[in-house]
Amino acid sequence: MSSDRTILITGASSGIGRTTALHMNDAGYRVIGTVRHESDADALVGDAAQPDMLIPIRCDVTSDADVHALAARVGDITGGALDAMFSNAGIANMQGDVTAEGCPVTTLDRMMQVNYLGAVRAIQAHLSMLRATRGTLVINSALMARTVLPYNGGYAASKAALEAWADQLRREIRPHGVRVVCIRAAAIATPLEAKQDPASVPADGPYPDQQAFVRGGLEMMRRDAGKKALQPERVAELVQRVVEKHHPPAKPIVGGMSRPIWLLGGLPIRLQDAAMARVARRMTRAGN
Ligand SMILES: NC(=O)c1ccc[n+]([C@@H]2O[C@H](COP(=O)([O-])OP(=O)(O)OC[C@H]3O[C@@H](n4cnc5c(N)ncnc54)[C@H](OP(=O)(O)O)[C@@H]3O)[C@@H](O)[C@H]2O)c1
Repeated sequence: MSSDRTILITGASSGIGRTTALHMNDAGYRVIGTVRHESDADALVGDAAQPDMLIPIRCDVTSDADVHALAARVGDITGGALDAMFSNAGIANMQGDVTAEGCPVTTLDRMMQVNYLGAVRAIQAHLSMLRATRGTLVINSALMARTVLPYNGGYAASKAALEAWADQLRREIRPHGVRVVCIRAAAIATPLEAKQDPASVPADGPYPDQQAFVRGGLEMMRRDAGKKALQPERVAELVQRVVEKHHPPAKPIVGGMSRPIWLLGGLPIRLQDAAMARVARRMTRAGN
């Protein structure tokens, strides 16, 4: 792929975003990657195959001022014509009360501010530049937007909101030739897991299984972390494939157990609930 193509990636300091930034840079793209800390910018450029083609820019997606400044820089760098954007920045919440009944609204609000509204803010600021190239927008959603696990601390809701907004966008922007792809990843081994705090999840009260469930899920992730399907490189390769396809799938899946999880989400609700109860018992046992 020619080196005059530019992709913007949010959340390029770590995990999937970092791996994708390095992968696309290696594949010949000019990559603009957002970070929140100067040290991450230096480390990212230091690991790039083509360091002069990797441009880190500081941006917190919850800040209007940061996103405005980012779009201005991207406009200057690309002349207002951006080939692709990977909206990836996001957080999970496996700490404190993670039940639907007990998760504090302030925590749910933070999830929405980063995963939903932060992504929307960053994307809106760059859509005119994607229209200019009839480019591709790739959004890092999650398979959990379709198949919702218990005790997810509002994560699934934030990704489901993002996907609903992306469905609207895809249908509106189609006449402009912009492709919109929501990647639905399941388990991918990234630093996201280490940022969680299972000890802070209550093990008493009306939902005493929540701590063991969270602990079990993280334990299973750690156990399977070396497996090929869980590597962030799988997502990076998928991003490159969809960016380079004229008719990419709207919602491709990737990651550990992604096929059975996707199939589970298509079952009648009663069967989904029964299967999910079995999954919950298994994960709780693993965490006890
Ligand atoms: N790992 C999985 O199994 C999985 C599965 C499905 C979907 N996903 C999605 O994949 C995306 C990346 O996750 P990951 O697993 O790679 O986790 P990660 O290693 O924790 O990376 C998250 C990235 O988002 C950035 N970020 C967080 N809050 C931000 C904010 N307010 N403004 C700008 N950037 C922010 C982080 O920056 P800092 O380093 O500065 O915090 C980091 O670069 C997320 O959207 C996540 O929901 C992950």
